[in-house]
Amino acid sequence: MYGLVNKAIKDLVTKGYGEEKWLEICQLSNFEDEDFIDMETYPDSLTYSLVGSASKVSGIDATKILELFGEHWILYTADEGYGEMMNLSGSTFIEFLNNLNLLHERINNLMPDLKAPDFQTRNEKSNSIELEYRSDREGFIPMLKGLIIGLGKRFEMEVQVKQIEFKNQGAQCDVMLIEW
Ligand code: HEM
Repeated sequence: MYGLVNKAIKDLVTKGYGEEKWLEICQLSNFEDEDFIDMETYPDSLTYSLVGSASKVSGIDATKILELFGEHWILYTADEGYGEMMNLSGSTFIEFLNNLNLLHERINNLMPDLKAPDFQTRNEKSNSIELEYRSDREGFIPMLKGLIIGLGKRFEMEVQVKQIEFKNQGAQCDVMLIEW
């Protein structure tokens, strides 16, 4: 994962719990640098390990941490120079969901080694929509949930998100039902 992701995890921890806790987490994960370079790639295993250590240090479930992280990511990226890209991705919640691949393609231009997920909306109704999610990675569904909730907040919407199809149970891909 690009350093930007791990840096956002650091930001979430230090803002919520202080620098000390972050140092504890780095120690637990045997990560000596304590900081990241946005545009450099780090092994996915480090990201998983940081989330696991944050869970141990805080006593908060790793699933919950990933969800909180997803929500935080929407605010963090908007503040860290990607605000304009966010603005370009849609002026409504639905439009934004339809442009998630375009958004990541634009990011891919800046970050050539990006392994972006793939999204496809379907079954749009007046108060719900479904989002197909495909990724080479495992374990990021809780983060996706937080991302969608955070994106809803960006458009002043209170959305509920639940997974309705599961790749690890034989479905073609993971599918989220989003309602408001
Ligand atoms: C300006 C805003 C955004 C930026 C800069 C951004 C950038 C990134 C980056 C750098 C990664 C790590 C992938 C890698 O390093 O190979 C990532 C992963 C991911 N992004 Fe985005 N992203 C943005 C918005 C969003 C939004 C709004 C969603 C969904 C609602 C989303 C969904 C995801 C998911 C689920 C992953 C996890 C990795 C995976 O599934 O394989 N992103 N994104």
